[in-house]
Order: sequence, then structure tokens, then C-alpha cells
Amino acid sequence: MSQLTPLIAGNWKMNGNKSLISEFTQVFNSQAIDGIDVLICPPSVYIESLSQQVINNNSVINVGAQNVSEQMSGAFTGEISVDMLNEVNATFVIVGHSERRAIFGETPELVAEKYKMALDNNITPILCSGETDQEREDDKTFDVIATDIDAVVNLTGIESFKNGVIAYEPVWAIGTGKSATPEQAQAVHHFIRSHLAKYDAEVAQGVRILYGGSVNEKNAAELFKQNDINGALVGGASLVSDKFMTICQNAQSSL
Ligand code: PGA
Repeated sequence: MSQLTPLIAGNWKMNGNKSLISEFTQVFNSQAIDGIDVLICPPSVYIESLSQQVINNNSVINVGAQNVSEQMSGAFTGEISVDMLNEVNATFVIVGHSERRAIFGETPELVAEKYKMALDNNITPILCSGETDQEREDDKTFDVIATDIDAVVNLTGIESFKNGVIAYEPVWAIGTGKSATPEQAQAVHHFIRSHLAKYDAEVAQGVRILYGGSVNEKNAAELFKQNDINGALVGGASLVSDKFMTICQNAQSSL
């Protein structure tokens, strides 16, 4: 892990409840961990509760959302706007998670619009990108990732990665228990940084690149030893406070 502050982000997906939020904010109190950024992205109905519990328990947890609309407001049933996220004190948002791309048909262009909408409204976007099994077999991993990054660059410029985060999440590793090896992940993270450097070397050096896909309390330490891995986006293991804490402590020890 390089000198960038590690970010350990939990993506609860459609899981969790208010009591889990209380547990996390108590476990991650102000003494719990320092030197890294900890983030939880619960289902959107719980964001306000998380924000409130963070204050009540003097917790170090940052609050994020799993998705945001590319529209400001209006007749978009079921969607959530950046103003709403700001009002409940969400400071991060995941955009383009592979489940959103695969199940909800989000395209690289739409994800880029969401990325821009978040950034323009002072919410840090976490751009997810990764290849399927088939794409890896067809040697298309780098193409898939370059397409997702270029969609953002084309819409809003390379500078937009100064205040954003990227998460490499191979689809074949998500929820499967089969994480990428540290070497496999590092190779893709290195590609991402080199690709950004073609536009702007300084921006490329400054962007945090998280790895996601079956990260757990056993494999995290090895992943964090890699040069271009600046943290993790954690699904399943982010629902269990002691596992998530161990992952955070591993990130802290890697500093
Ligand atoms: P997982 O999910 O850790 O359960 O594989 C990661 C993600 O989808 O962000």
C-alpha cells in the first residue's frame, strides 16, 4: 500500500438493519482506529440513522450511499438525489457497482453522469469497475476498465479523479469467496494507475484505488501489501463487525 490514506468501505447491499448500525457505530468509536478512513454504505433508508448514530457514539465511520440518481429531482420513482444524500450527511457514494450494471442495466455513460453529479455536489464518488469471468478469459479486463474510466474522463475530465475513488471489483470475485490473488489485483490496479497517468501523472498518483471481491479478515493483509492497493470495498465481511474491524486493522498495520 502506498502513502495514500487507506479507505476501507463496507457495502451492505440490501442487508442490515438499525441494530446493526448501532453495533457498528459503537464498535468503531473514536478510539477504535486511526490513520485510515472507514466508510459504511447501508441501504439508503438507513443512511440518516447511521449519520445520527455516528454523532451519538462519537464514531469514526464515514457515511455513504450505494447509488444516486444522475437527475437533480423530479418524476423518477424510486430514485434518490444528491440533495437528499447531502441532507442526511452522506459524504460518499458508490457508482457503477457491477450489480447495478448487470441487474439494472447501467451503462458506462450513465455511471459517468452519476459520478459527475456526486462530485459536483460535494459527495465523493467511488467508481466501480471490473471484468466478468468471460471477459477475463477473453483477455478483455483492461479494455472493460479503460472504457469505464474513459467514460468519466470524457464527460468530466481527468481532474475529476482528484476527488474521486476507484474500486477494482472483478465480477467473478464478488460474493463468490474467490478473491483475486494479491498479484492479480495489483496487476489491474497498476494498469488503472498507468491508464490515468496517460492523461495526468499527478492525478494518477493521488487517486485511491480499492480492491473489492471476497475481501475478508483472512486475505486482506496480503492484498494491502500491494503497492497500488489503497484499501478495500467489502461486501459480505462488512456485515460482521469483528471481521470488518480486523480488515480495518490490517489496513492500519500496512501503513
Ligand atoms: P463481497 O462484495 O465482498 O461480498 O464479494 C464486494 C462488493 O460487491 O462490493
